[in-house]
Amino acid sequence: MSHNNAPAPLTTSSGSPLTGTIRVPGDKSISHRSLMFGTLAVGRTTVTGLLESEDVLATADAMRAVGATIEKHDDGRYTVDGIGLGSLLEPENVIDFGNAGTGVRLTMGIFGSHNIAATFVGDASLSKRPMGRVLNPLRDMGTSVIARDGDRLPASIRGAELAMPITYRVPMPSAQVKSAVLLAGLNAPGETTVIEPIATRDHTEKMLKGFGAQISVSLNDDGERVIKLQGQPELKPQDIDVPGDPSSAGFPLVAALIVPGSDVTIENVLLNEHRTGLITTLIEMGGDIEIVNKRETGGEEVGDLRVKASLLKGITVPADRAPSMIDEYPVLAIAAAFAEGDTFMPGLEELRVKESDRLAAVARGLEANGIPCVETEDTLTVTGGSNAIGGGTVTTHLDHRIAMAFLVLGMAAHKPVTVDDGAVIATSFPTFTTLFEDLGATLSNNASEAA
Ligand code: S3P
Repeated sequence: MSHNNAPAPLTTSSGSPLTGTIRVPGDKSISHRSLMFGTLAVGRTTVTGLLESEDVLATADAMRAVGATIEKHDDGRYTVDGIGLGSLLEPENVIDFGNAGTGVRLTMGIFGSHNIAATFVGDASLSKRPMGRVLNPLRDMGTSVIARDGDRLPASIRGAELAMPITYRVPMPSAQVKSAVLLAGLNAPGETTVIEPIATRDHTEKMLKGFGAQISVSLNDDGERVIKLQGQPELKPQDIDVPGDPSSAGFPLVAALIVPGSDVTIENVLLNEHRTGLITTLIEMGGDIEIVNKRETGGEEVGDLRVKASLLKGITVPADRAPSMIDEYPVLAIAAAFAEGDTFMPGLEELRVKESDRLAAVARGLEANGIPCVETEDTLTVTGGSNAIGGGTVTTHLDHRIAMAFLVLGMAAHKPVTVDDGAVIATSFPTFTTLFEDLGATLSNNASEAA
């Protein structure tokens, strides 16, 4: 399911202030999991506010391939008629996950403890990304794997006939790896334990509990999260209301801070503590961000963000904050380009293995637009000020967040900014263009017209 559209350059230029009240689409992490866990429950799960992006729709297709019935209704809700843990059918065809790392890695976990064979493919970006981080613990649990060199896609697995529950210490801060092991553990008899030295987003733990799994989280003497899951539960269907994606909200958030005179409210944003690192950081940089109307829905905190254009200052972003804002560094780098002084971002090694090598892609994009930065193996320093020149064309490398971050740059830079492929945005934020146009931004798919 590589994105359907041919590469389509997209350009933004500065203009009027951004104003208005918007809602960003549903959270990507929760959307993937709603479809997956709905499939593993017996009965009908309903999902309101599902993110209808290419990534999530690829997961829907994968779940259909093992027997779930997933439908969209006239009122916009989705229903998932699950077939139950242990009852997955063998897919008849290759499963194409397009650009979706979360989709493929979590699905490998689910299939890995079911006695079915499946072959996974993806687009050029996904085919470069390391799958060993989930395939290795799955091998320990009894999954057979044939994958391309370096455990890259295409890869085929045959799930274990009777999976072995394991105790696994996650070697890198990755919610996808943690989740893949837990999801494989669902269909293993006995207790699967995941030790997480550095906490990452906890949607799998929270949502599995909601679906009726026995799962506990505690801290050991070293302060590491210890997650224990009892295998082979009977999962019960749920009604899920997906809150707005804080990672998507990061784009209008930063845009409103850097476009002079802006005043934007973003409603219904997920405020899970493992996802709010960008908001914390922008406030530390001097951003005028007010969190209002905080409330709880479906076990998650949500709220509205009112953000006004602000004079930002450069800061050091603590390395241990990285997991709570791992997808937000590209757009933080844009905020940093408008901040007084240097913004130093350490602890970024995981950015090298995202949809692109995001550290390099951000640094090259900043350079192309005359913004000084220094990239090391795992850090980025951006020198801000009034020198955000713009005028460059940025290579997106099939990475939606690189495209969106640099389009935000163009909204406030001296000269227009072009990204070589705006079509990749459909991976996670299909309404990006219309939503920004509603706020008053100037976007154009004709580079010469905008320039
Ligand atoms: C995700 C986990 C993160 C994140 C991704 C979504 C998830 O990936 O970057 O966009 O839903 O579990 P890693 O686990 O590789 O850090």
